[in-house]
Amino acid sequence: MSLIENNRVVSGMRPTGALHLGNYHGALKNWIKLQHEYDCFYFVADWHALTTHYDDPAQVERNTWEMVTDWLAAGLNPKSSTIFVQSKVLEHAELHLLLSMIAPLSWLERVPTYKDQIEKLKERDLATYGFLGYPVLQSSDILLYRPAHVPVGEDQVAHVEITRELARRFNHLYGREPGFEDKVEKALKSMGKSSAKKFKALRKSYQEKGFDDSLQSAYQLISELSHLTIADRERLQGYLEGSGRSILVEPQSLLTPVPKMPGLDGQKMSKSYGNTIALREDPDDLVKKIKTMPTDPARVRRTDPGTPEKCPVWDFHKIYSDEITQRWVNEGCTTAGIGCIDCKMKVVEPIQAEIAPIRARGQELERHQDHVHAIIKEGCDAAREVANETMTDVRKAVGLQYSEI
Ligand code: TRP
Ligand code: SF4
Repeated sequence: MSLIENNRVVSGMRPTGALHLGNYHGALKNWIKLQHEYDCFYFVADWHALTTHYDDPAQVERNTWEMVTDWLAAGLNPKSSTIFVQSKVLEHAELHLLLSMIAPLSWLERVPTYKDQIEKLKERDLATYGFLGYPVLQSSDILLYRPAHVPVGEDQVAHVEITRELARRFNHLYGREPGFEDKVEKALKSMGKSSAKKFKALRKSYQEKGFDDSLQSAYQLISELSHLTIADRERLQGYLEGSGRSILVEPQSLLTPVPKMPGLDGQKMSKSYGNTIALREDPDDLVKKIKTMPTDPARVRRTDPGTPEKCPVWDFHKIYSDEITQRWVNEGCTTAGIGCIDCKMKVVEPIQAEIAPIRARGQELERHQDHVHAIIKEGCDAAREVANETMTDVRKAVGLQYSEI
């Protein structure tokens, strides 16, 4: 139990290149919001890109810079978040290796995304060691920074779950220092006879009957004995709680609250469906894309009434338009009072208003890519420092401290 409130979050995104509105509403917008409340670590999961696209090395770096430019243009702020690239913090790979020693094959084969993705990306050969280990790499990304939360969409919850299971397994295997029992005996002795007796009674009542009061009184007792060393306090706490030390912290998912962003054709917006609007879409292209969207097929002629629920344009209105406009669409569509072009142009406005400032900042950042590079370099250095603290504990726990060399 830590006395300091842990308000760190960690999340990553695979480098897919320029982002679209689905990425923005599904993740990035939430990341930006979280910056004000949390200590945020955000990174480009470029090694994860190679688990599926290992045969496409020419794309990774370009996609990374395009995506990071979008992040900054949309409002990720390096002053409040640590923004970095996974492959430039080698500790991710080291922890991945060590966790792979203890990751049961059956857990990995059971992860729902594993078989799904193999099925979905049929044209790729994903029968690889690296792809099976995808969740182990993701667990390392997370556990290195000991966050309380991982902001993700629904599709990633299973990965955060396995992250918790791996942390628990690691702590179970390595959280007990060698000779723990003897050291606890010694710590009890240094408490003094009467305190030790009281402490044991409180522990018994907590462990056997689950009395939380007893647990709290026992903590209190430890904290009052100021002559105890920090190491002894930790041992006594572990003895009290019946656990070892937590070397890795179990994080929770922080589900991103988002409406599903539909694409231009009514399916989910996704690069692979070719139905996207870019976060920095050119204004003329935006108008073109919206104008050519399919509508309710019942509206063959201007005078035919339609049903908004059968039209992907309505999906956009639901996200972007206020109530008054929505009512205008509903009435106009069902009575043939408005034409589809009127209806479409009305939703162009709020999309334009959302992306225009992002596009402007993006253009500025395009002109100063060296500035973007410097931000990421700094982020990598800061992330590496935190990652190294964890790795020092991890190496020691698995018996690879080598303090002599
Ligand atoms: N697998 C995530 C995705 O496809 C990306 C990712 C990699 C990630 N490492 C992570 C997300 C760590 C959260 C935390 O979206
Ligand atoms: Fe779709 Fe609007 Fe045309 Fe109705 S009026 S079919 S909601 S585009």
